Amino acid sequence: MIKKICCIGAGYVGTPTMAVIALKCPNIEITVVDSNKSRIEAWNSSNSNDFPVKETGLDDIINVVRNKNLFFSSDIEKHIDESEMIFLAVNTPTKKEGKGKGFAADLTNIDQCAKQIAIVSSSDKIIVEKSTLPVRTAERLKQIINKHKQDDVSFEIISNPEFLAEGTAIRDLYKSDRVLIGSDQTNKGLAAMESLVKIYKNWIPEERIIKTNIWSSELSKLASNAMLAQRISSINSLSALTEKTGAKINELSIAVGKDNRIGDKFLNVSPGFGGSCFKKDILNLVYICRQYGLEEVAEYWHQVVKINDYQRKRIFNIINSSLKELKNKRISILGWSFKKDTNDTRESSSIPISSDLIINGASLKIYDPLADKKQIIQDLTTYLESKNLDLKEITCLLSQVKINNTLSECLSNSNAIIVLTEWDEFRQIDWQSYKLNFVDNVLPHIFDTRNILDIELLKSLEYKVLQIGNGDSNIK
Ligand code: UDX
Ligand code: UDX
Repeated sequence: MIKKICCIGAGYVGTPTMAVIALKCPNIEITVVDSNKSRIEAWNSSNSNDFPVKETGLDDIINVVRNKNLFFSSDIEKHIDESEMIFLAVNTPTKKEGKGKGFAADLTNIDQCAKQIAIVSSSDKIIVEKSTLPVRTAERLKQIINKHKQDDVSFEIISNPEFLAEGTAIRDLYKSDRVLIGSDQTNKGLAAMESLVKIYKNWIPEERIIKTNIWSSELSKLASNAMLAQRISSINSLSALTEKTGAKINELSIAVGKDNRIGDKFLNVSPGFGGSCFKKDILNLVYICRQYGLEEVAEYWHQVVKINDYQRKRIFNIINSSLKELKNKRISILGWSFKKDTNDTRESSSIPISSDLIINGASLKIYDPLADKKQIIQDLTTYLESKNLDLKEITCLLSQVKINNTLSECLSNSNAIIVLTEWDEFRQIDWQSYKLNFVDNVLPHIFDTRNILDIELLKSLEYKVLQIGNGDSNIK
């Protein structure tokens, strides 16, 4: 029976996962550690507004289990050594330089963790790969560990990828479609797997716990994310065609999704998928395929990311051509996070679309119910830097950006309004009153890239409106 767990990485995956295990397994003591001390301090704050990750239901769980059987600490070595099972939930971004640059996963964090675990451990450990990793990473970890470990200490590595989606993390953890655990098919490997199965059995029905070999488990995470993203790119690619033909993409999604063999999930048109996983994981898959000489397979999956970039560019072009001239246009950006109900902005389509707008002379007012103001500026800065703009140019472009505290401030006095995240708040906008209060003569053009607004109502109020993939839009 496992009694002590340490989780390295107090981020979007590590903390919600450990909070739920702590709640469901009161006899297990869990410590979440992180190299970022301020993150740990934030999780230890008495004010839940300070928590670095916003997830529905997470605060309530933390308030119940924190300092009972869930702890947050910066003393990484101590907790590694004291635990029997160590979860790795550190981030694995796309490599920015060196071999595989722009595609392969940067495993520096994972490698460092493995080395640290090997050096400080004075008793046997089970290491659980929670982070999304390239297939055959366990082999690499074994080599690092064997090089640095004490002679009489042994390690078992198992894979247990996380399938939670942000915004619904707690619900996903409570009611997982499946829990996947992969291990070496040796007696020791299978025993390590069973010790983790026992933990999950506290709340997950056994038939939902899938046991595989370690390589299938590692690869299943990449494959799942690639297939989910592929559905989005499929529907987004077809949105370009429905616009041309007068068909409606929302009707297409319903008609296609009603076929049980296809299913109705992940067929919502969008300005492109964002988030920390999809792009990174597909590029990683592309890299792995190339490494094995599978060029056609690599190109097949690469196209999913290319269509995502195309959708973002396409949306920018539509806005650009419909407004004729972007210079000096005031544009309201509704939504910065990569999806609703999260403050996470990583890879959000709002970033490239907004950057292209300011580069072309528009002034932006940005509103998001949860995203942090500083983060929004940081996102724009990083993106503009990647376009090789210098500090002076970036500062000048950022002076065209204002971040609003309220939706009504953001909506006032605009030439165009772009809905980029599907926040519920945006569905409630009273377009009739807005029209009456509008000071300028010309009503703003509305671009609804999530298809959440009532287009017929908007048209009846004489707005010019475009929904992605909707042949009924009166902006063409
Ligand atoms: C997760 C997964 O772990 C990643 O593989 C997956 O593909 C995306 O989701 P996430 O929890 O979203 O990452 O990342 P993040 O919120 O950045 O949290 C990672 C944490 O690990 C950070 O708080 C970081 O400070 C910490 N970290 C990183 C360490 O404690 N040690 C390190 O060596 C590196
Ligand atoms: C994803 C996977 O869903 C999850 O299983 C995995 O563990 C991590 O990666 P996440 O990135 O948190 O989760 O969010 P998800 O709900 O998958 O959305 C990703 C992006 O796709 C968002 O930008 C979202 O707006 C977009 N999306 C989603 C669409 O554009 N259309 C859809 O129909 C669904």
